[in-house]
Amino acid sequence: MAPGPLRILCLSGPNLQLLGRREPEIYGSDTLEVIHERLRRAGAAAGAEVECRQSNHEGELVGWIGEAMGTRDGLLLNPGAYTHTSYALYDALRAVGVPCIEVHLSNPEAREPFRRRSRVAAACVGKVAGFGSGSYDLALAGLVELLTRGSRAA
Ligand code: DQA
Repeated sequence: MAPGPLRILCLSGPNLQLLGRREPEIYGSDTLEVIHERLRRAGAAAGAEVECRQSNHEGELVGWIGEAMGTRDGLLLNPGAYTHTSYALYDALRAVGVPCIEVHLSNPEAREPFRRRSRVAAACVGKVAGFGSGSYDLALAGLVELLTRGSRAA
């Protein structure tokens, strides 16, 4: 196990910068900044450095996943609508082999039919969905648990 804190990267995809104002009846009232701050604090308390980023661009998300190879111990990923379309994100997750938890505020499988399929799920070790912004917190707790009882990236 590498010394020092666990290194976790949390990525959020398109339209999630609008959280707090975007369809609050579905996604709740917390902004992404509030969620990110909570993750950094909870991570620090659990011995993890959590860095959080958001992008509306698939290629940028793919690039950030690629950077995680050998530099991060785990990933949290809410791909937004790219969940349902992106083979590029699936391939990126497979390529880096860094354990990733898929995160959704809503429960996509209980919504419109096009949301019922996740293209990234098969490249993730787990998924947390349907707990509003709390899905991110639960996913972080699960990832830390997984990483501390498993082995760390070099
Ligand atoms: C989402 C669910 C997706 O279907 C949707 O496109 C989003 C948000 C969620 O967090 O619930 O943008 O990923």
